[in-house]
Amino acid sequence: MKMKLLQPVTINQWDLQSRVVMAPMTRGFADQETGIIHQDTIHYYAIRAKFGVGLIITEGIAISPEARGTIGIPGLYRPEHIEAWKRVTEQVHAENGRIIAQLWHVGRLSHSSITGGVQPIAPSAVQANGVTHKVHLPYEMPKAMTKDDINKVIQNFKTAARNAHLAGFDGIEIHAAHGYLIDQFQFPWVNFRKDRYGQEKYLFLQEILHAVCEAIEPERVIVRFSEHKDDSPLFYWESPEQEIIEILNVIQSIGISIIHPSAKQYKKTLHRHELTLHALVRKYRKGVQIGVGELTPDLAEELLRNEEIQLAAFGRPLLSNADFVKRVKEGRELKKYNAQIDLPYLH
Ligand SMILES: Cc1cc2nc3c(=O)[nH]c(=O)nc-3n(C[C@H](O)[C@H](O)[C@H](O)COP(=O)(O)O)c2cc1C
Repeated sequence: MKMKLLQPVTINQWDLQSRVVMAPMTRGFADQETGIIHQDTIHYYAIRAKFGVGLIITEGIAISPEARGTIGIPGLYRPEHIEAWKRVTEQVHAENGRIIAQLWHVGRLSHSSITGGVQPIAPSAVQANGVTHKVHLPYEMPKAMTKDDINKVIQNFKTAARNAHLAGFDGIEIHAAHGYLIDQFQFPWVNFRKDRYGQEKYLFLQEILHAVCEAIEPERVIVRFSEHKDDSPLFYWESPEQEIIEILNVIQSIGISIIHPSAKQYKKTLHRHELTLHALVRKYRKGVQIGVGELTPDLAEELLRNEEIQLAAFGRPLLSNADFVKRVKEGRELKKYNAQIDLPYLH
């Protein structure tokens, strides 16, 4: 029997050659000064499209210099960024792939020597524990965002969305997961604001989604969210049901139809719920959902067949196997992910 995972599918405006999605993965190969991507980035994404990935979600792309949380993060805020990314989108399209840009602001999970001398920002002035990726600088005490800061970030997201369109991307993903800036507004340990952004913890997300959907159609926008926060492994939602209902209300109010809940391990149930993250979302929403988190091709197939998910995202397996889809098709073994081999180069 043919695997559903490997069959073409049409999702909104996208004709996808398979239901395999490349999960967003930061690689850190862009020029630190300019944020322009490395030449090898073109081949890195195009080869995965050539071998059959349906939808590629790029590494997190900074919406401004202050949005960066480590070195080598690419940008989408300068005309040169648009030109550089155009070469990637053209090659991916030439290989029959579709590619969307993940738009990212890390908020307090940064340091001023990475942001270009600017103090990192957050909903409230609460310092995170830990160090930045790669360069291991302690997370700096952030500045509590003023209303002007909030408006500026919303505008930066909107401009980056427009730039993504100009660069030929098929859409965008808003990174509202993993404890980064948007998620920090939903994080009770970090959001002590007395204004509406403190009372309505999804307001910031809602305003960003509203703004980006003025630059790009909502059918081309995906939202990623998660319970887990990179800097706070012991944080769990008080009431997962309530949280999911609130997130879905915001997403639906804007008319966005594709969501990408992020679980570290798909099959693991939530800490305070008997369902997994994706199953709980499914309970309240029937639209397109991307599954992710240590999926295997067989598990993805089962989830696609029982319609818990419509697309299956793979992260590390696609780093170690550029020809992932071909291998699955041919029943060949997948190379095991090894960070020491798979992270230092774009191959
Ligand atoms: C090297 C690496 C970089 C990552 N960078 C990002 C990122 O930029 N944005 C994001 O939303 N998730 C990021 N993730 C998480 C992945 O998108 C994915 O959710 C996670 O790896 C689980 O999928 P997997 O078990 O198939 O690897 C990253 C993961 C890895 C391994």
